Amino acid sequence: MKVLYIFLFCVVCAQAKVTPDYFPSCKRSDPQIEKCVLNGLEAMRPHLKEGIPEVNIPALDPFTVPTLKLDRTAPNLRIKATVKQAKAYGGSDFKIEKLKLNLNNKYAGEMKITLPKLMVVANYDVRGSRLLALDINGKGRIRGNFTGITVVAKGFAKPINKENVEYLQVDKLVSKVRINHAQIAIDETERPVAAASAASFFNASPNIVLDILNPLIEETTAAVIKAFVNKVLGSIPISEVLTDDAPAA
Ligand SMILES: *[C@@H]1O[C@H](CO)[C@@H](O)[C@H](O)[C@H]1NC(C)=O
Repeated sequence: MKVLYIFLFCVVCAQAKVTPDYFPSCKRSDPQIEKCVLNGLEAMRPHLKEGIPEVNIPALDPFTVPTLKLDRTAPNLRIKATVKQAKAYGGSDFKIEKLKLNLNNKYAGEMKITLPKLMVVANYDVRGSRLLALDINGKGRIRGNFTGITVVAKGFAKPINKENVEYLQVDKLVSKVRINHAQIAIDETERPVAAASAASFFNASPNIVLDILNPLIEETTAAVIKAFVNKVLGSIPISEVLTDDAPAA
């Protein structure tokens, strides 16, 4: 009997919770599951700025993207760029405007968030690129202030099994992004004159440039969110955040 107890205890201890105590746990069948998740996210908010290492959540403010490779052709745009050490300040002031979840035999969700302001700094290296008639090639550092940001992200997740524990992973994610206003400054090391005229063009009509860049911004945002969410979900067993109803005794 004692052996059995020790065995059972160790089954429990081997599955010690990875999530901190303030982490949300919601009932799958809760008709107000969105409210439960939103309350949970608010409980997490004070910890998000610095990150939550137990569940792979990196610091949100500043949020760092070490490398982004961009390669896209679209109307009025040909861009091939490497962006390094991008840091965004202001991400922890996000407001969740809407959350919709559908957990009936699937994992589907939609979230709308707004951000009053994002200050971004990044190193760039742009080759063989053109925006409208502007030469945007060069290498240097860009700073930008983006205000009135709305992001709608919509996607599906699937359960996966790692060593007999179920986790969720996002399968498909798309995003819509709107930015009300932006101003940039460029410290160009190779071609300062061309960069200065590109920056003044941008600052005089940011919405024209943002419209041209929008498909690229939306695609990049979706890729960054998907990578971020999957890194987090990959460390949280589903059973710790989504509980089933207790079976009838
Ligand atoms: C962005 O905003 C900060 C703080 O308001 C300001 O100091 C900085 O000059 C702005 N940068 C640009 C590129 O407008």
